[in-house]
Amino acid sequence: MTDHLSEFLNRLSQSLDANTLSKLVLSKYQGGEKELVRLTVRPVTLRAEDYLSFVYQYQTREITKNHPVAEGIALIGQKLGTDFQNANLLARDGETQLQFSKKGKPSLQHHGQVRAAAADKAHNHEKHRLLDLDRPFLTDLGVTDAEQRLIPAMSRKWKQINKFLEIFSHAFEQAQLPADRPVRVLDFGSGKGYLTFAVHDWLTRAQGRAAHVTGVELRDPLVKLCMQAVERSQLQGLDFFTGDVRSFDTPQLDIMIALHACDIATDYAIHTGIRLGASVILCAPCCHKEIRPQMHSPAVMQPLLKHGIHLGQEAEMVTDGLRALLLEASGYDTQVFEFVSLEHTSKNKMILAIKRRTVKDSAAVREQIGALKAFYGIREQCLETLLAADQPTA
Ligand SMILES: C[S@@+](CC[C@H](N)C(=O)[O-])C[C@H]1O[C@@H](n2cnc3c(N)ncnc32)[C@H](O)[C@@H]1O
Repeated sequence: MTDHLSEFLNRLSQSLDANTLSKLVLSKYQGGEKELVRLTVRPVTLRAEDYLSFVYQYQTREITKNHPVAEGIALIGQKLGTDFQNANLLARDGETQLQFSKKGKPSLQHHGQVRAAAADKAHNHEKHRLLDLDRPFLTDLGVTDAEQRLIPAMSRKWKQINKFLEIFSHAFEQAQLPADRPVRVLDFGSGKGYLTFAVHDWLTRAQGRAAHVTGVELRDPLVKLCMQAVERSQLQGLDFFTGDVRSFDTPQLDIMIALHACDIATDYAIHTGIRLGASVILCAPCCHKEIRPQMHSPAVMQPLLKHGIHLGQEAEMVTDGLRALLLEASGYDTQVFEFVSLEHTSKNKMILAIKRRTVKDSAAVREQIGALKAFYGIREQCLETLLAADQPTA
């Protein structure tokens, strides 16, 4: 092994030990594989073990292979100066380049100051991707193909999953859950489990936390599909139940998620979160059927509301506004905001509630709820009814 090559591999090992490696790119391919352009290597953690993820980039596709770190470094050593004539190692303290001349003579350059910022930027960029496409469950759920490439028809879902994880990670930080016990998460109306798997992956791999994540879903075939994916990947602390949000019970809960659970299933989910004192409640409601037939808007608004779409939008705003106020009255700081732009899904509203650490008088909020109901002539709202039933009778 040449001195420059061994020095380069030493730098690679050191940056892995110090956890500063952003990526390693091997280029100028001269081997025998048709259409292979470059190889990008990144550190990843799989089932709590460190690996190197090798992404072979061909002209029209990518293939990912994961290797234990020592095996990966040895493989890189074999490929340099033979298959690949150039390598750029991007770490937080700079960029190191190894080049081989036409005669096979290696030269090594290190750009400490100048390129460190770029490396940092690259590193931060990597950090922003909270879920990696190479996760095997994504193939089981139909997000990626057998070679772990994103299936084009799933690109909207992929964006939604990543955006959801961003919101989830911020909420998780704010909640400051104790680190000495598993985080307990319920995903109501989990469907095909995209978000349930993503949350479990982020908590256990990115955060290194023990977690019990449970998806609850009416449709048994979806639950079976999710459980098969859990078993194939041998994931601990992730399970799915065939059940109804309206009757599912559990003793303890830290984070309640309900994305696109239909109509009042969202109210039952929020109610379970409040009743069990969840620190975080995250929901994206859909199908606002309960309030619409009850609403009486003032006569002056009739010219606007004679259009069904406006009536639907108003019913949605009132329903979700009341849910947010009921959460506030139940001890949560609540926000309502756009979840994913309309470009990706039409169901694009998120209610995020974080449990307050201090008690706040809720009389004013309850008055606002009463006034709004009176204004719109609303007799019943499911979440309010469920919460009222929890109150001890006088
Ligand atoms: C539109 S899907 C959303 C799935 C998933 N949360 C997501 O965002 O990818 C809504 C899911 O909620 C389930 N669902 C609706 N009402 C439910 C209920 N009462 N209990 C359990 N699941 C329910 C449906 O079967 C469906 O799979």
